[in-house]
Amino acid sequence: MSITNCKIHDLPKVEDRRGNLTFIEQEHHIPFQIRRVYWIYDVPGGQIRGGHAFKQQDEFIVALSGSFDVVVNDGEEIQTFSLNRSYYGLYIPNGIWRHMENFSTNAVALVISSTYFDETDYIRNFNDYRQWLKVAKK
Ligand code: TYD
Repeated sequence: MSITNCKIHDLPKVEDRRGNLTFIEQEHHIPFQIRRVYWIYDVPGGQIRGGHAFKQQDEFIVALSGSFDVVVNDGEEIQTFSLNRSYYGLYIPNGIWRHMENFSTNAVALVISSTYFDETDYIRNFNDYRQWLKVAKK
């Protein structure tokens, strides 16, 4: 449950004068089994997404287009990762509070998840997160 475990991963980049190509392979580039992929797009200027933690879900976030910031918080420290290249991915293990902000026009956030969608896996209130951490860290 420490933000020191949140890491930017370099993804393969196949450069080509016809346009570049990047790919992701489960377990080679992402340290978990992929169960779900979703993407966030058409974000109006100034909007914030996220603002929660997951009890089980690990995730990997890529700025497929445009840019945005991912702010991670483990209840003790806060770190901001600026994603602005489609060949970088941010790994966030479970148990980390996070939100996304500063979306550029036409930004697309690809999120690769280790779990199927499950609303009960969310902690949506920061005080609840703090309480959950006390138990989870025991
Ligand atoms: P949420 O994860 O809260 O969005 P964000 O973290 O970007 O602010 O999801 C928003 C809504 O979409 C919420 O009602 C749950 C629903 N949802 C699904 O049905 N399936 C999914 O895979 C995801 C990620 C969200």
